Amino acid sequence: MTTPTIELKPSAHPLSDAERERVLAAPGFGRFFTDHMVTVRWTEGRGWHDGQLVPYAPLSMDPANMTLHYAQTIFEGLKAYRQPDGSVATFRPHANAERFQSSARRLGMPELPVETFIEACDALVKQDKDWVPGSGEASLYLRPFMIATEVGLGVRPANEYLFIVIASPAGAYFSGGVKPVSVWLSEEYVRATPGGTGAAKTGGNYAASLVAQAQAAEQGCDQVVWLDAIERRWVEEMGGMNLYFVYGNKIVTPELTGSLLPGITRDSLLKIATDLGYEAVEGRVSTDDWKAGNADGTLTEVFACGTAAVITPVGSVKSARANWTVGDGTPGEVTMKLREALLNIQTGAAEDTHGWMHPL
Ligand code: PLP
Ligand code: COI
Repeated sequence: MTTPTIELKPSAHPLSDAERERVLAAPGFGRFFTDHMVTVRWTEGRGWHDGQLVPYAPLSMDPANMTLHYAQTIFEGLKAYRQPDGSVATFRPHANAERFQSSARRLGMPELPVETFIEACDALVKQDKDWVPGSGEASLYLRPFMIATEVGLGVRPANEYLFIVIASPAGAYFSGGVKPVSVWLSEEYVRATPGGTGAAKTGGNYAASLVAQAQAAEQGCDQVVWLDAIERRWVEEMGGMNLYFVYGNKIVTPELTGSLLPGITRDSLLKIATDLGYEAVEGRVSTDDWKAGNADGTLTEVFACGTAAVITPVGSVKSARANWTVGDGTPGEVTMKLREALLNIQTGAAEDTHGWMHPL
């Protein structure tokens, strides 16, 4: 695979310092974008070429662009954090690059070399470094993605693709800060099936989730919890987050069955929890286990985790047949300890013993 270098074409009209500071004061999530983006093209027979860092701008697209019809598209999400000395570092970008390759394989798309993925993210963050919030949990969220660019309506893998990285300053993902979310167990709709695309980060999985998310909202819940497609009782994950179940000193996350996303936060927490002296395992948790553990007090906390959401406690559960409160409905001690330990690594407040931070 060839590794194109990224040619720099800076914006002649970046946002003014005052405008950028106004955005950074309350960025929300995914609402504002920085001054630049990186683009790299792939063409059959030529491979990856034309890496460019250019002003952030709309894409012009033929109405018969294959992505618009058949959804051959994948994406990633990772964050850059301001470090105590004022420098900037990204969290586990190599893991995102590898997952991007695995998503590409599942969608019949070309694999972007890991070093090009990293170079593209680094180039964008360096160029737009003033967009990285000053300190703490706020971060610059990077959204690398790939789309097919071939024009035509034949159903087959395209012969041209475009890889893009954009960046968006991020405050807290949930507007209320760390407050427990309520979840709806989706027994009617499923997100992914064995042999399907559930383990890939591809747009179709999210499109398929929206009707259930709307159903959750109708039920007064914040988020959907997906169950396995066959028995509809094994807990898989949430719409944009993995799940952890806390039984005192033991934490359990649903095993990677092939139909849930192998989250990088999930993987990091297996290691951080072990460092903190918890027993951290992958296993199976059914909705009955969840309800029973709650009733007899053995299940003490449940939380969700992901790049955008960091760690978010789950406070209550609703399904077509039952409702219950998790623990006492407030953020649990283990949840908050793990959240702090993870954020301390990401923000440089704690030593990076796993070598996860990628300084720029
Ligand atoms: N599950 C889904 C469906 C997601 O979209 C995400 C977000 O990326 C996650 C889990 C968590 O993955 P990560 O920790 O790599 O962000
Ligand atoms: C992420 O956490 O990076 C995600 O992709 C979740 C969501 C915004 C889709």
